Parts: sequence; structure tokens; C-alpha cells
Amino acid sequence: TAAPPTAMVVFGASGDLVTRKLLPSLAQIQERGLLSEHFCLIGCGRTEYSDEQFRRIARDALGEYAKGIPHDTAASFVEKLYYVSGDYNDPTLYQRIKDRLAELKHRHDVHGCDVFYLAVPPVLYGSISEHLGAAGLSCKDQPDCHQQARLVVEKPFGRDLASATELNRVLDKWFKEEQIYRIDHYLGKETVQNLMIFRFANGLFEPVWNRSHIDNIQITIAETLGVEHRASYYDQSGALRDMFQNHMLQMLALVAMEPPSSFDADRVRDEKAKLLRSIRPFQLDAWNSPFVRGRYGAGVVNGQEVPPYRDEPGVAADSITETFVAARLFVDNWRWKDVPFYLRTGKRLARKSTEIAITFKQVPHSLFGSVGLDELPANILVFRIQPEEGMSLHFQAKRPGSKICMGTLNMSFAYKDIFNADMPEAYERLLLDCMTGDQTLFTRFDAVDLAWRLLTPVLDAWHDGKTPLPEYPAGSESFPQADALPAADGHRWRRL
Ligand code: BG6
Repeated sequence: TAAPPTAMVVFGASGDLVTRKLLPSLAQIQERGLLSEHFCLIGCGRTEYSDEQFRRIARDALGEYAKGIPHDTAASFVEKLYYVSGDYNDPTLYQRIKDRLAELKHRHDVHGCDVFYLAVPPVLYGSISEHLGAAGLSCKDQPDCHQQARLVVEKPFGRDLASATELNRVLDKWFKEEQIYRIDHYLGKETVQNLMIFRFANGLFEPVWNRSHIDNIQITIAETLGVEHRASYYDQSGALRDMFQNHMLQMLALVAMEPPSSFDADRVRDEKAKLLRSIRPFQLDAWNSPFVRGRYGAGVVNGQEVPPYRDEPGVAADSITETFVAARLFVDNWRWKDVPFYLRTGKRLARKSTEIAITFKQVPHSLFGSVGLDELPANILVFRIQPEEGMSLHFQAKRPGSKICMGTLNMSFAYKDIFNADMPEAYERLLLDCMTGDQTLFTRFDAVDLAWRLLTPVLDAWHDGKTPLPEYPAGSESFPQADALPAADGHRWRRL
């Protein structure tokens, strides 16, 4: 669906997210013919720029991060960009934004929604929303407010249950839930969305998608990157807040939720919330915790020597921030009772790999004479989220040769072979959905609340400093404490 006429105001306009993701994605939407002709964007930030200077920044960003976009598309997109500078705590900034919006909407003939995008540090979400509301820009009291103004916020939404609840209270004062778009960019990835199509558009899989047939499920997000230039954020955050609370739990919800009655935003989000509510609360005994954390030490990643996390610029000398977290959890409902879910995510691991692996139960008996049960590996269905997006199914098959001669085959499909590699950026999907007013791929507050309810006790337990924080060499596949989690059930992590 093409986007309707939209005016966008982006706070934090000269930041990394805007130049690397938002502007290139919007230009790409235009290149696909899906951006309305009636579109304009006001960048807003503390640094003083003229419209022309901001356009130059945008041109450079498109040159670097959107190389495939033809010159004339880039040129015409950049013409729609404007800039307003000011202090986010100054009420007059919002009056200037309001005046500029009115003028530009008139100039570009935009009879449509205003989208306020907060690409700023989360501490500013509350005050910017307050000012937008006080300037009359949020339109909450109008019956069609979600057609008038929308607010987009990036993760992290809060840093624990109390701060997320407080932030929501402030947002809720000025914006209705149907106006708030909480971004989790994993939900914009094609292969993550494919989980729903795969499960609910095929008759074959759903009947076996349960405890009777599935032995365990592993979800992995392994990165080779370290904290790059983001240590000041990351050191306050850590893997549990940065990846687990959002991306990991959202993927878990999609793979394990019940079928929604329709593909409507709230029906899908109802089911995700129900699933999160069914996760068994964690018993955090130190001797048998379902959570393991770790932190990378010095090592070699992709052939390059890298420093340990504690020596990265911007990391506090007494930091106890984790760069790896793994968990073993259970979903207490009829479908999943006692099926272990193993989740892990970490930085500076051996390879970049994001996947969901469903391991089915083994056959109950080997009828192949000398072939023992342990020689009949279980079937595994793997959703490869990145890199090399695709799916594979591992199963046993007869090899040509003697009577009982078999091997594990891998039936695999790669998106790039079938769909000609043109995989849209997650932000393209999400920005388009936000402009069209579709909240399906955005996180509703009940899911955020449930995730923090589950994880805040873990953070509290870690805060006491008694929970071990083992170091793993950068570039490793895993480490003994992490291996112990699946080993408790006789399983192991899949190779990265
Ligand atoms: C972000 C995290 O949400 O996701 C980063 O803040 C992480 O720390 C990134 O590197 C990973 O995203 P992707 O799409 O590269 O897997």
C-alpha cells in the first residue's frame, strides 16, 4: 500500500539513526513509488543548520547508505526536507515547529497525518511528548486523533518496569495508544514477518507446532560487532535491555503465540501479549539460574584482534554490564508445557547469525536394524533471519547404495535465490506502516509491560553484584556457563 500524504517531524535529525536508516529508507520508499507526492519532513535538532545544510547532510547520507537510489530520486527526495533547530526543553521550539508545519503542509499540499519521530536518547521522550502535547500538536482530544498525529519512539522503552510505566504515563497524557508507534526494528525484517505467514498460511505445520511434536526451540542473535561508538548508551544498558527485552521476546512471541483470529493489529498483539503472560516466572536461585550473562574479553573476530569490553572507550572502569545473555525458559500453556526455549544473544561472537531453530521429537523407535536411535537425528526446521535470509529443514533420507544407507539432508531455500535479493530494509516496512496507520508490527504497551515484569527481577538480581559475569574470549562460539543451560536437558546450542 502506498503511503497517504504525510508531514514528518524527526527529532534528533543529525543523529546516526536518521542518516543511516530513516532518510535512506524514506528515499527508498519514494524510489519504489510508495511515498506520497504530498510529503515533507522537518528535521529538528540542537545543532543549528539551515534547510540547505540539512539537505547536504541528507545527500551525503543517501550517497553512503542508499547507493542503489538513482540520482534524480535522491535529488527530488532531498527537496522535501527542511530543518528547525532549538533546545528540546524550550516551549518556543514547538511553536516554531507548529508554524513551520502549517506553512510546509500548505506548500506541499499535505492533507494528512503529522508523524513525530523521536530519534533522540530515551531520556528525552517524556519531555518532547509533553511539549508536543502542550503546543496542541498531539490532537489527543479529537475523535480521529490517530489520523491527525502519531508519535514514533525507538527502543528502549524504559530501562525497567518502573521507568517504562512512568514513561507510558507521560505519553498517555498526550497521545492515545493508537497514536503511539513503538519501534522494534526486528519486527520489520521480512524473515521475522515470514514466521506468521509460514505458520498461519500453511496447513502443514500448525498441527505439529506443539509439545507433542516439538522437543525444543532455540532463538539466537549472535553479533560480531562490539559496542562500536555506542558505549555510553550500551554500558548503561547491556544485552538484556538492548536485545532480550525487545527483539528476542518479540521473536519468541511470534514463534509460540496462538493463531490470531485475523491479521488485524490488535488481534495479533493480543496473542503476543497472551504468550508473554504465559512465560513461567523465573526462579533466580544463583546455583541454578535460568539466566546466564557474560562479557567479552580480548580476542579475535573476523581475523582482527579486538580489545576486551572493559577497555572499550566510554565503558566505566567498574562496569558490570553484560554483552551476552542466555536463558532457558518455559511457556506454561497447553501448547508448550515443559518444552524448553533456549534464547541467547551476544556481541563479539564468532559469527553474525540470527535464527530460530525448531527441533522436533525423535522417532520413537529405530526399525533399521543396526542403525540406533542416536543415529537418527531429530528433524530441525530453521528460520534464518540474517544473514542469508531463508529457511531450511533437516531430515533423514536414503542415500544411494546399500539397503540401510541414510544421511541427513538439508532442504533449504534462500530469499535471494527466489525473490531476486531485493530485501527491503526493516525501516522501510515500519515507516510505511506508520504512514499508513498500521500498528501490527509495533509493540503495544502491554507487551512492553509484560516483558519488563519478567525481566526486572533478573536485572535486580544482577545488580547485587553476586551473580557471576564470566568473560568469554571475543570471537568465541560460546562458553561453559552458557553451555550449561541447554546441557541441563541434554541439549546443546547449535553451531553459529
Ligand atoms: C539494536 C541494538 O536494536 O539491534 C544493537 O541496539 C544491535 O546493539 C542491533 O547491534 C542489531 O540489529 P541487526 O538488525 O543488525 O541484527
